[in-house]
Amino acid sequence: MNIGPIIGGRIRTFILLSLLSPVILVSCGKVYQNPKAGVNARVEDLMKRMTLDEKIGQMTQIERGYKDVDSVIRELCLGSVLSGGGSVPTPNTPESWMKMYRSMQESAMSTRLQIPIIYGVDAVHGHNNVLGAVIFPHNIGLGCSRDPELVKKVAELTAMEIRATGLDWTFSPCVAIPQDIRWGRTYEGFGETAELQVMMAAPSVTGYQGEKLGTQYRVLACAKHYIGDGATTGGKDQGIAEISEEQLRKVFLPGYIKAIEAGVGSVMVSYSTWNGVKCHANKFLVTDLLKNELKFEGFVVSDWEGVKQCAPDFKEAIKLSVNAGLDMFMEPYRTPQFVKLLRELVNDGDVTQERIDDAVRRILTVKFKMGLFENPFPVAALADSLGNDYHRKVARRAVRESLVLLKNEKQVLPLSKTTGKVLVAGPRSNDIGSQCGGWTISWQGKSGPTTKGTTILEAVKSVKGETNVLFSEDGSSKEKADYAIVVIGETPYAEGAGDSQTLSLKPEDLKVIDNVKKLKIPYVVILISGRPLILDNIIKESPAVVVCWLPGTEAAGITDVIFGDFDFKGKLSHTWPVSIEQEPINFGDADYTPLFPYGFGLTMR
Ligand code: GLC
Repeated sequence: MNIGPIIGGRIRTFILLSLLSPVILVSCGKVYQNPKAGVNARVEDLMKRMTLDEKIGQMTQIERGYKDVDSVIRELCLGSVLSGGGSVPTPNTPESWMKMYRSMQESAMSTRLQIPIIYGVDAVHGHNNVLGAVIFPHNIGLGCSRDPELVKKVAELTAMEIRATGLDWTFSPCVAIPQDIRWGRTYEGFGETAELQVMMAAPSVTGYQGEKLGTQYRVLACAKHYIGDGATTGGKDQGIAEISEEQLRKVFLPGYIKAIEAGVGSVMVSYSTWNGVKCHANKFLVTDLLKNELKFEGFVVSDWEGVKQCAPDFKEAIKLSVNAGLDMFMEPYRTPQFVKLLRELVNDGDVTQERIDDAVRRILTVKFKMGLFENPFPVAALADSLGNDYHRKVARRAVRESLVLLKNEKQVLPLSKTTGKVLVAGPRSNDIGSQCGGWTISWQGKSGPTTKGTTILEAVKSVKGETNVLFSEDGSSKEKADYAIVVIGETPYAEGAGDSQTLSLKPEDLKVIDNVKKLKIPYVVILISGRPLILDNIIKESPAVVVCWLPGTEAAGITDVIFGDFDFKGKLSHTWPVSIEQEPINFGDADYTPLFPYGFGLTMR
């Protein structure tokens, strides 16, 4: 065998390598690209290499739906992309999400310094944008469980479902402390007390992030909305929180302190106003208190176009917000304009280089800690974890533990599994969309068969058998039933669209109950709701009343309890007012005469 060509080839390879070695050395020599180098060293090395434009790009977050988003990511060296509520790829499948994210990440990695993006999504009760994901109970229900371990598990499984679509950041937990249930976002908080915010903030963060950033199959969490979002007068969304600094520190801050102790990597600023200044422009809150006093080391992100609310002129608003200490800017549609104006502000000396560097240093530190530079692309390993049976089993347990029994006269509950025909009544009884509430598949959520799951009617049928279950939307029934389950409540809403000045039950729900009352059989009312509602005669006349909040896709957790396999555990996370005139009414108020107090909850046995 002629070995000439082999030796010749090896010599050629040796010569090629020796010629290339400086380039290889240099590229391997870039400290920021060396995973063995310390995070701080990598950050400082990268910062030295970055231009002002590249730094401003890192501070800027674009919406996935922006036209030619991949090329904008590349041209502006953007640091982040988000999905606003309901902003999903077509088809809405894990594969499609992964393909979308991979394409965006390839654009980011094709830039000069190859800095990966981070992709944020509102996975606030499961990976709720994605069809087939498990939808867990909203936080108001989890607060009733008083079970931090459960909350941590829910966050952990949610992180796995987020990873199953390739993404790496959730805008959760919402650690709002809603003080007035007229607020449309009441259901996003764990409850009305610092006790519940403190109990759940850290477990939720640790569930999402793991014990530290970079834990496999976990994501970056985001404590929101800093601060006092739930303390606005009249429960007005994005309103004014008229609270003293003492109250702010005593009631609304402790949960953030716990989140920071748990290592939360991002905090989102509230739209609301405190002390006469928009939180998005409030230097005391963001820089003096959060960054300097509480030593928060992650990065602060704005809310959706939150900056523009700071001043009539966008450039002035940007100056106020950047100088207040915000680090990343959720500018879904004015992304290029934001970048241009911030560059001008720095060049004109209205925003210092130090402020830019603080923001970029924080963002890069989180990205390095998350391992994004080493693993920028989604892993297919988790693709089958989305909506799997184990996750549904945990969600079913979360539903059980979130239910609160308000009344059970003559032991109507538990219902019999084996004897009698049951009438299931009310439009909400076969309505997965209403069970899930807002932030489900779409931003506002929607009634009807919006995603995979089990409705209350379906859950009852699987307990009683089809032939023993009658269904009536309006509660009337010609066929005799032995008892009835009447499901009433709210239809989905999110944010300001949910602000209510009445908290009254829907007329069609009152009609259903009237029709069932005419049947003269025992019945239990099950209330689907994002907050306490004014019950008036319903509580007086109904033999049994259960509130299930916004339970999500696993309604079998409800039948587990009302048919007696489990007893009620839930305790109210909010005070239940007698009338709307009592709002705001909260645990600890001097004049406190609610229908049901905070912490109330009966058991069957
Ligand atoms: C919304 C909400 C915030 C959410 C963000 C991104 O307006 O206030 O909770 O994370 O925009 O969807």
